[in-house]
Amino acid sequence: MKLAKKSVLGIALSGLISMGAQAGSVEVLHYWTSGGEAKSASVLKNLLEKEGHQWEDFAVAGGGGESAMTVLKSRAVSGNPPSAAQIKGLDIQEWAELGFLTNLDKVAKKAKWDDLLPEVVSDVMKYEGHYVAVPVNVHRVNWLWANPEIFKKAGVEIPKTWSEFIQVADKIKAAGYTPLAHGGQAWQDATLFEAVALGEGGPEFYGKAFVQHDQATLTSQKMTDILATFKKLKSYIDSDSAGRDWNIATAMVINGKAAMQIMGDWAKGEFTAAGKKPGTDYVCVAAPGTADAFTFNIDSFAMFDVKGSDSKTAQADLARLIMEPSFQETFNLNKGSIPARLGMARDKFDSCAHTSMDDFVSTAGNGGLVPSMAHGMSTTSAVQGAIYDVVTNYFNSDSITAEQATEKLARAIRAAI
Ligand code: GAL
Repeated sequence: MKLAKKSVLGIALSGLISMGAQAGSVEVLHYWTSGGEAKSASVLKNLLEKEGHQWEDFAVAGGGGESAMTVLKSRAVSGNPPSAAQIKGLDIQEWAELGFLTNLDKVAKKAKWDDLLPEVVSDVMKYEGHYVAVPVNVHRVNWLWANPEIFKKAGVEIPKTWSEFIQVADKIKAAGYTPLAHGGQAWQDATLFEAVALGEGGPEFYGKAFVQHDQATLTSQKMTDILATFKKLKSYIDSDSAGRDWNIATAMVINGKAAMQIMGDWAKGEFTAAGKKPGTDYVCVAAPGTADAFTFNIDSFAMFDVKGSDSKTAQADLARLIMEPSFQETFNLNKGSIPARLGMARDKFDSCAHTSMDDFVSTAGNGGLVPSMAHGMSTTSAVQGAIYDVVTNYFNSDSITAEQATEKLARAIRAAI
């Protein structure tokens, strides 16, 4: 069969590129395994392969990344870490302190990352002033995703406060629908809890509780009231939620099996992958009481020390590619997040993303921009794990009171600091 002239030239060119560019391979550990996430990860894989390098995919399923981090620790301890790993927030500092991460300053300086990133993002990527990770996106966590059909049938409006949420959920339940789609996993329970804490307590209360770990805040009547509201939500979730993955809960809203989900905008990646459009097929709105706040969750890749110049070149190319406009646009269109890089064109992004882009800037100026506790931005993995345990046990218990949960939470955080 006669190969078309173009493809012969194409093969020759890619051969030249791969030889000249010291083709290497990069093993990437991540936990993007849902429909929308996998599509997003393939954007990066394709770009790296276009540069002549090889992408070795090391995906560890499990929303929120707990399983992935467990596998990463065992790989690192046995002296066999991947080239790059999806590590976020304060975990980056912990890995850097242990001496595992490679310095990315050369790539960062050449591409002027300091001019391209808001400080709230670049600060997370640096250890002692040096870049050791590269940001992929900015996710907003405090979202409510709604199925407008169910709201119409139940004759209710989108709730703007948590007390309205409870009234609306009662009516949706009475109309025979599941009000709240949820997965019974600790990180999802914590995601729901932090939305109630932000919505009922406000950004200042949230910061005192989950960034400063202030004991007076943690043991306050306000925290008890928040925990009581949080527990009420359990009655709006169907009985099959135990262990359900977050994207299966999102599919319940997409397919009209449930009215709402409180989840970060990686959920939008599932609506997008299903061909759904915001405003017609679904509604995105700030989680109740949080319209003036933005809970941020920045996905990033930290690079581990690798041997061999080809591997180092491939790793540096990966870091460079992640910060370039083409990746920042295509990846985030699929992932549901907004670009980490400033000054990106908005025209291809939808109305939910525009709201995120605008609110990310406005909340940075009004004190409403807060780091997600449930997604590793506000505190250490030890404190986050302690909060997960108390919150999920309380949410799934019939015997722990809100007052007892308040005491347990404050004690667990104090012990984990
Ligand atoms: C978050 C992560 C997102 C998405 C989500 C569900 O922690 O930042 O990218 O993966 O978990 O797994």
